[in-house]
Amino acid sequence: MHEVARQAAPDARVVYVDNDPVAVEHSRAILTGAGQTAVVQADLREPESVLADPGLTGLLDPGQPVAVLMVAVLHFVSDDADPRGIVGQYRDAAAPGSYLVVSHASSDGQPTLTESHKVLYQRTATPMTMRTRAQIAELFDGFELVEPGLVYLPLWRPDPDTKVDERPERFTGFAGVGRKP
Ligand SMILES: C[S@@+](CC[C@H](N)C(=O)[O-])C[C@H]1O[C@@H](n2cnc3c(N)ncnc32)[C@H](O)[C@@H]1O
Repeated sequence: MHEVARQAAPDARVVYVDNDPVAVEHSRAILTGAGQTAVVQADLREPESVLADPGLTGLLDPGQPVAVLMVAVLHFVSDDADPRGIVGQYRDAAAPGSYLVVSHASSDGQPTLTESHKVLYQRTATPMTMRTRAQIAELFDGFELVEPGLVYLPLWRPDPDTKVDERPERFTGFAGVGRKP
């Protein structure tokens, strides 16, 4: 991710957050020498801990806009944990002009296939919660969606030379980017 960010802004500072110790150790190993990056081991469902972590506060200026990337992760947050409230805490902590990026699994369009994904994940430590497009849209409360809005994954600004699948619902999820005014 930091490589992509730095294509746009060579001095971009990037903080990765994950609650899986193996993912964290692996990330730290491959980020050695990457500079201006940090890996925080924390649970995104606890925004106060994430936002107060020295790895984050040492790198990010709270007065400056940030991009919060919640890519392929919010479907691991159950409704009981209040994903909308969690995202709202990150929104409230972010400066105006910040962005929220979400990609999220959904059963819209592919109910049979996604049911099998759900059943598979129920056997793991991280069960999945599929959400409808309307439920995912609610996560952008307080953000203005940028074009093309909340769309099936392959439809979010595909590279110009990429042929978009004729049935984008086969990718079983939505992607969107919102800007905090
Ligand atoms: C499908 S991966 C996506 C990783 C990354 N966002 C990407 O797009 O490559 C999901 C990651 O979310 C992490 N994860 C799941 N629940 C989490 C939570 N509550 N807090 C922090 N990380 C979590 C998992 O450990 C896993 O590394």
